[in-house]
Amino acid sequence: MLKEGIKVVDENRQGEALAPPSAIKSSSERKVYIESYGCQMNFADSEVVASILSQDGFGTTKELAEADLVLLNTCSIRDKAEQTIRKRLSNFNTIKKNKPEMIIGVLGCMAERLKSQLIDQEKLVDLVVGPDAYRDLPNLVNEVDNGQKAVNVILSKEETYGDIVPKRTNENGVTAFVSITRGCDNMCTFCVVPFTRGRERSRDPESVYNEAKQLFESGYREVTLLGQNVDSYLWYGGGLKKEFKNLSEEEKAKSVNFAQLLEKVAQISPLLRVRFSTSHPQDLTDDVLHVIAKYHHVCSYIHLPVQSGSSRILKLMNRGYTKEWYKERIDAINRIIPGCAISTDIIVGFCTETEDDHQETLEMMRYVKYGLGYMFKYSERPNTVAQRKFKDDVPEDTKQRRLEEIIRLHRENAAFRNSEMVGKTFEVLIEGVSKKSDQELFGRTPQNAVAVFPKENHKIGTYVNVLIEDCTTGTLLGKVVN
Ligand code: SAH
Ligand code: SF4
Ligand code: F3S
Repeated sequence: MLKEGIKVVDENRQGEALAPPSAIKSSSERKVYIESYGCQMNFADSEVVASILSQDGFGTTKELAEADLVLLNTCSIRDKAEQTIRKRLSNFNTIKKNKPEMIIGVLGCMAERLKSQLIDQEKLVDLVVGPDAYRDLPNLVNEVDNGQKAVNVILSKEETYGDIVPKRTNENGVTAFVSITRGCDNMCTFCVVPFTRGRERSRDPESVYNEAKQLFESGYREVTLLGQNVDSYLWYGGGLKKEFKNLSEEEKAKSVNFAQLLEKVAQISPLLRVRFSTSHPQDLTDDVLHVIAKYHHVCSYIHLPVQSGSSRILKLMNRGYTKEWYKERIDAINRIIPGCAISTDIIVGFCTETEDDHQETLEMMRYVKYGLGYMFKYSERPNTVAQRKFKDDVPEDTKQRRLEEIIRLHRENAAFRNSEMVGKTFEVLIEGVSKKSDQELFGRTPQNAVAVFPKENHKIGTYVNVLIEDCTTGTLLGKVVN
């Protein structure tokens, strides 16, 4: 269900000026500093925010000391994520003691979840802006300039920021994110995202295509299409997805699904790599797999979070698939796209998880042999179905032990996947200079593995064939071959 948003301008705070008007610089001189946490969607949103604020005369800075406006784009996915943000906000408040005119704002999921609590009770910020309210930022900053605190956490059914050209802050100039959907309708019982991001909306395919094309024309060589569940992308002229069933057959025929969008973006240029994230096992279609197989530059890599290997737990999580269904999707990937890399997210210690359930997760990991994985202990989130209806009853030490067990197995699998690549040659898109040596470059294979190789005369943003000669835990080591 959509949560009601509120725009709060607390009357009691009128006159509680942060700085006398004379201390406020004209907006042409002002600078915003943005830190992003959480998923790739937040990083993409920060670029939209930078773009909106630049229209209002704000330059961006990477130096906190130079900032007039400090924004944290936040994540609520686990309690730990929120604690990290609170610590960071305390640091900012210490700085603000000597620089009272500096505005501190919170964006993103924690803003949406906590709303004005961050101002009223925690007294940590001046500005709270939810993920669908970024267009209002110039007005909200203006309110703060006038001595008020400002909140806009209204969730939208339409907002996709489709017309805003993000201000790219990723310096490599080679890879970029392009959002294709916002929100999520899945309601996995453990997850806070449907509450913080609202209902699922798809972005106009023309605007996705144009943004990707423009990126290619300005030198970018890889786009990652982003959504919480990219496979449920569906465009039929706007509005919420659930209304689709009410459309006429003619209107339905004009709709664009994810496989079609992916193919459209792939047709921009064979030199523009296309990635996407996140795929949902319930919705990943063979059509999408065939598009990946058809285009060499649509990367052979799928992030397909399993969460658990136990069908009983998957049902409690409301994931919409069983372990058999998931394995069938894995088999389909291996059949249609041989050599495709698969990664996952796993939650251990979800409500009522038994030792047998845990063993089934380990069994699933042995079946797939993920090359990449993100593993978490279940963290209860306020207002989710799991929090309201189930008991967080797996003891902390059991969660910890299970996490260690899956991490250990994952390391073995990842080492196996890396070793499989030694002796083979992969096309690598060069992204930058290696952190360890300026004589080496790094880039990624289509399977999303990082490869490091001698620099020689190779240029960032070009493709090279790299023969993999060795590997460490997370990196492939090789040399360029013709
Ligand atoms: N839309 C993506 C996931 C986004 S959140 C999907 O459906 O796969 C990223 C990951 O965080 C999830 O895949 C899940 O593994 C983890 N996660 C989400 N809520 C969590 C919680 N309450 N506790 C622990 N991990 C959680
Ligand atoms: Fe959360 Fe599930 Fe939506 Fe992913 S699909 S964002 S886990 S509700
Ligand atoms: Fe976190 Fe929100 Fe993304 S909760 S994972 S930043 S959608």
